[in-house]
Amino acid sequence: MKFFVDTADTADIRELAELGLLDGVTTNPTLVAKSGKDFKEVVKEICGIVPGPVSAEVVALDHAGMMREAEVLRKIANNIAIKVPLTPEGLKTCRKLTSDGTMVNVTLCFSANQALLAAKAGATFISPFVGRHDDNGFDGMELIRDIRLIYDNYAFDTQILVASVRTPIHVLESAKIGADVATMPAAIIRGLFKHVLTDKGIESFLTDWKKTGQSII
Ligand code: G3P
Repeated sequence: MKFFVDTADTADIRELAELGLLDGVTTNPTLVAKSGKDFKEVVKEICGIVPGPVSAEVVALDHAGMMREAEVLRKIANNIAIKVPLTPEGLKTCRKLTSDGTMVNVTLCFSANQALLAAKAGATFISPFVGRHDDNGFDGMELIRDIRLIYDNYAFDTQILVASVRTPIHVLESAKIGADVATMPAAIIRGLFKHVLTDKGIESFLTDWKKTGQSII
C-alpha cells in the first residue's frame, strides 16, 4: 500500500520523505489555508520534494472553470494530480483530463456508487473519506471493502486512495482490505512506528550491551 501524507506543511513532507516512506502528497483548500502559504508556490515546493503524485484541488464548480484552473495547476509540475469533487461537472472534467494524460484524484466520495461513477470516468484515484463517514454514523471501512469488491469485479484501474484517515486502525484495515493508497496526517504516519514493547526492548538491549563493556566501532 502506498503512503501519501495529507498536508501542505513542507517541513512535515521533507521529514517523511527523508525517511523514504512517502509515495505522494494530498492537499485540499483547508490544508492550504492552514499552511498560510500561496497555493501555487506551496504546491510547486511540494512537487520538488516528492516525485510521486501531488494532489492539488480545483475550487471552481463548473466544468469550464475547473478546466481553466486545472490548466494552471498542471503546468506547475509533471507529478500534479488534479483533484476534482465527485459531481457531474467534476467527473466530466475528470474524463477530459485523464484522456489528456493528466492524473486525476476524485475527492469527497462517500458511497460505493459514487466510486463506481469515478472509475467509469477514468479517475486515477478515488478518495473515499473514511473518518468523515464514521463521524456521521456510517462505517468508513465498509465503504472501502465495497469499493475494492466493485473495482475488482470489473478490473477497474482506478486506485483506492483512503482519505480522512484518523487512526492507525484505519491504516491497518485499509492494508488488509487491499486499498492502493492511504493518505494520512503526518502524526498518524509517525504513530505507526510506536509500540511500547519496541521501546522497552531497545532499553533492555542497551542496558545489557553496556554490561559487556564493548563498542562496535
Ligand atoms: O484531503 C481529504 C481528507 O483526507 C480530509 O480529511 O480529516 O479533513 O476529514 P479530514
